[in-house]
Amino acid sequence: MLLLGTVALGISAASYALIYTVVAQTVSATQDRLLSAAIASIVDKLYTEDKEFSLDLPYDTFSLLGAIGEDRVFYKISKRDETITGYGDLPSVSKPGSLLKPSFEEFVYRNKTVRVAAANYPLIISGQTEIITIHIAQTKNFEEATLRKIGENFIPLIIIFLLALILLALIAANLITKPLNQFANKIKQRGPNDLRDITQEIPEEIIPVLKSFNGLIAKLRNTLQQTETFIAEAAHHIRTPLAVVRSESELALRKSKTPENRNHLRKIIRSVDQTNRSATQLLDHAMVLYRAERPEKVSLVLNECMSNLVQQFEPAASLKDVIIHFASVVDIATTMKVDRNLFETAVRNILDNAIKYSPAEKQIDIKCLTSRGKYKIEITNEYNGIKKLKINGLFKKFKRGSNASEIAGSGLGLSIAREAIVASKGDLKIRQYDGNLVCATLTLPL
Ligand SMILES: Nc1ncnc2c1ncn2[C@@H]1O[C@H](COP(=O)(O)OP(=O)(O)OP(=O)(O)O)[C@@H](O)[C@H]1O
Ligand SMILES: [Mg+2]
Repeated sequence: MLLLGTVALGISAASYALIYTVVAQTVSATQDRLLSAAIASIVDKLYTEDKEFSLDLPYDTFSLLGAIGEDRVFYKISKRDETITGYGDLPSVSKPGSLLKPSFEEFVYRNKTVRVAAANYPLIISGQTEIITIHIAQTKNFEEATLRKIGENFIPLIIIFLLALILLALIAANLITKPLNQFANKIKQRGPNDLRDITQEIPEEIIPVLKSFNGLIAKLRNTLQQTETFIAEAAHHIRTPLAVVRSESELALRKSKTPENRNHLRKIIRSVDQTNRSATQLLDHAMVLYRAERPEKVSLVLNECMSNLVQQFEPAASLKDVIIHFASVVDIATTMKVDRNLFETAVRNILDNAIKYSPAEKQIDIKCLTSRGKYKIEITNEYNGIKKLKINGLFKKFKRGSNASEIAGSGLGLSIAREAIVASKGDLKIRQYDGNLVCATLTLPL
């Protein structure tokens, strides 16, 4: 902005200086021509008489010169530096020119700047050539008045020109930066998992930037995909031998006679369960990351989907004599557009927690409702624990609560659930109530 202003100011000042100089030169040249004509008219009136010469002053020429801009006119006719007539104190031009090409100089005379024209004129007096020098001077009122007028008339014009120039420059700058800003905004609005190419109508000049950016996104996408595939494969390769270790350990446990060995084997089985859970969760996490980038939205009948999920968890709940109480006040036909995989993964992780952390012989409450254009699932359970849970940190990856020390888990469940829900433009919150109650609320737009 400052640069634009400076450039516009520079252009305006240069235009003003140019106009001023051209006009000053034109006025000065006109004055010189008038002074030359005045010298010629004086010479016309010079004639010799006997041994002397006479001059009839051309008053009409003088009055013409004086009339322009109310200027004053001075003259001096001299012979060999001796003034014959006119203003003897009028400063002399150092080298007077000829009639055809007089010399010009400027002096301060009687407190005024005057332009003086001087020419030598050879006059034959009594057979002898005498050089008569004619000086004619004119004040510069006309030139000064003209230049003043230019200043008065042009300065407002120059200011308007300057403002118009700044305005034009601003519009031009805005036009150039607008697509760049739109491009930057599109990037800013993106979520961390959004790795689609940017498609936007842009001016030709920034097409290379867009291409490079999309190239970078493609490389990132590729790297991410490779990492996800690697995690998925690694998890799969870990789970298969783990399943073998677990079944073999169970067999050994059954056959084992000494309490010491049995204790060791139980520890092995626990570790295997823990590792197996971690592998499963890593696999789920990879899947959620991948899907979050491009969810495949389908219409799900909410009640049906939820009761199916609840049914899948009934066996795990009954192992602990936990009752799942499922109540839905949502219309049977209500549907929701979500990615089935992401939605089910989120609900599964929350249900898994509720059963896992609930003490035996308790009840888990699941409520489904719609409120303000949103679909809500509230899953409430009791938990074992002397200390209060620190809810805030639980969404961090690999973070486990104080109530989880005896229970197998990886600490990834909640973060997986939240990422899956956020990818469907929903939200997941955990609240804690008196009586060691935890309520997970999952919200999704209808
Ligand atoms: N419904 C719940 N009741 C009580 N505690 C909970 C509940 N849900 C989560 N927590 C606490 O939050 C912690 C983090 O839960 P999260 O699901 O992320 O991991 P995790 O259950 O330990 O492991 P996993 O990855 O196997 O699910 C748990 O360790 C537990 O302490
Ligand atoms: Mg969990």
